Amino acid sequence: MKEFKRYLITSALPYANGPIHIGHLAGVYLPSDIYTRYLRLRKREVIHICGSDEHGVPITIKARQEGVTPSQIVDRYHDLNKSSFERFGITFDIYSRTSSAVHYETAAQFFKTLHDKGEFIEKTTPQYYDPEAKQFLADRYIQGTCPHCSNENAYGDQCEKCGSSLNATDLINPRSTISGSTPVMKDTKHWFLPLDKYEPFLRKWILEEKKDWKSNVYGQCKSWLDQGLQPRAVSRDLDWGVPVPLDNAKGKVLYVWFDAPIGYISATKELTPDWEKFWKDNDTRMIHFIGKDNIVFHCIVFPAMLNAEGSYILPDNVPANEFLNLENDKISTSRNWAVWLHEYLDEFPGKQDVLRYVLCANAPETKDNDFTWKDFQTRNNNELVAIYGNFVNRAIVLTNKYFKGRVPEPGEMNEYDLRVLDEIPVIRQNIEDNLDNFRFREALKAAMNLARLGNKYLADTEPWKIFKSEPDRVKTILNIALQLSATLSVLTEPFLPDSADRLKHFLNMGATPWDRAGEKELLPAGHIIGDRGLLFEKIADEEIENQLNKLLATKGENMTAGRSLQPPKDNISYEQFAEMDIRTGTITSAEKVSKTKKLLKLTIDTGIDTRTVVSGIAEYFEPGAIIGKQVSVLVNLEPRKIRGIESKGMILMAEDPDGNLEFVVPGGNIENGSVVK
Ligand code: MF3
Ligand code: ZN
Repeated sequence: MKEFKRYLITSALPYANGPIHIGHLAGVYLPSDIYTRYLRLRKREVIHICGSDEHGVPITIKARQEGVTPSQIVDRYHDLNKSSFERFGITFDIYSRTSSAVHYETAAQFFKTLHDKGEFIEKTTPQYYDPEAKQFLADRYIQGTCPHCSNENAYGDQCEKCGSSLNATDLINPRSTISGSTPVMKDTKHWFLPLDKYEPFLRKWILEEKKDWKSNVYGQCKSWLDQGLQPRAVSRDLDWGVPVPLDNAKGKVLYVWFDAPIGYISATKELTPDWEKFWKDNDTRMIHFIGKDNIVFHCIVFPAMLNAEGSYILPDNVPANEFLNLENDKISTSRNWAVWLHEYLDEFPGKQDVLRYVLCANAPETKDNDFTWKDFQTRNNNELVAIYGNFVNRAIVLTNKYFKGRVPEPGEMNEYDLRVLDEIPVIRQNIEDNLDNFRFREALKAAMNLARLGNKYLADTEPWKIFKSEPDRVKTILNIALQLSATLSVLTEPFLPDSADRLKHFLNMGATPWDRAGEKELLPAGHIIGDRGLLFEKIADEEIENQLNKLLATKGENMTAGRSLQPPKDNISYEQFAEMDIRTGTITSAEKVSKTKKLLKLTIDTGIDTRTVVSGIAEYFEPGAIIGKQVSVLVNLEPRKIRGIESKGMILMAEDPDGNLEFVVPGGNIENGSVVK
């Protein structure tokens, strides 16, 4: 592989219209941060660029909804996201924003250059126009009836009820969401980048030269290219964005996907006067970290723009990730279905590394993955605490106890000792190979194997049992355990920087470059280590319950929010259906769960037994009004503790599009315990 002089790492600029959530982190910012930290530890010249993407229609819509200006929206989320990233330990060299003066100038100049080179096509096309508000309407500003499912509130780009993607002209009875009036067609002129012209260049550059890209990325590019590329408009009729820098372009701004990637360039300019060596020298390796919904823009559109401009380098790799779901449901900002970074940081102070660990161990690298709070707890308690923490804790405690904190001189090594020491460079190499190829989960697994190795070594050699009889042997064992601990503090640093720092502090060692990992005497004999502290601590059931209840409350809110009907779910087999044991039962008592708004504790006579079910329906029903009601109960749902109450089963409810909730009741007379099938 080509040796590069320096690295330019970019992370997708998040829209400043909402907070950062775990999906963003797992997909983009955690891998880019791990990678950048690793390169820095290896003493490579590297910069990591990010910032807020502050243009685009969703921001103007959010501002309108809240009755504030778009600048107020982007200021709010820019500040929140910048500080959340910082608190989480994501190390950008700059976190800029596309509303900066440098960016306006850079983006306008880029457009101007392409325009003057004759790279654009100018086209006039008819578009929906709101005659009352006197403005052209972005697709999201138009609602009407979906031609597929008759949903009357479909948007000009998509119907959220049936999931079809639409053109604004597909809508029946279109209306402007700004004024409510019926939009009319009106001609408007825009500038188009003829992507078809760049197809041969892109085919060669990607399909022939980028066979080493991740298969999901390469595959998506190939399918775009095979479908044939079309000219794409790079301007919009909107009053929020970078104005098109031409005389005859009043009311027109650059399309957000034209200006945003140029934001990487503007941010680099802002960071260093020496920015050109990062963008215009073939010895720079540029890598874009993004989520899968950004692939076409970073692999096709932006490279075509860069190629058209002519003086910039192209990305060497674009390691895009798939999506992370949350508790089996798509993460959604509008439905508030997410774990928000700023809330996590407030609710789990000092535990940035736990989230980093779980998100990396379960990163959606090759397919969509699911984040569950249970898995979060298990990985913390069984891996970070029980393996990593336990190992280094024992090494440090025993050294303090037996040798007053002094690293003991090793004696003669036996075969086991040597095998353990020999394993260190192998593990290091394994981590490097994986990191070099953007396989962060595997890299983390390899790093944890070092802790596993140490844990097993101490469990096998049992120094605490032989100190009296063989003190010299214990010196060797603890020396090796301390070398392993010190190595761990270096090799886990990109993934768990805060814990690695603390571990170095416990071991009384300073910052240590990557290349020293594996040295036989990373901690020389005689070195005095520090006192032990807590590296990781167990997460209790209650903390997990709280998080699950928070999500439960969100589901409840969504029910009242008046959403449209949900699209059908994927088919299941008859066997899957038959596994559910649903029975008729009667509510025999109901009371509010204290200190909660949503929860009722119900006692149900299911015919087969009497049991307790906790249900999130307190805001819908008065306890007194539902006693004696016959309902349907899923009785073989795994029992779960909610607010300390063991809940066994679930009451079936029906929810209409307005968020009204009703019990699913058996009609007529049927005894309790009857099977619903
Ligand atoms: N804001 C976009 C998103 O969140 C990403 C923009 S990346 C950039 O999907 F390259 F355009 F900056
Ligand atoms: Zn529809």
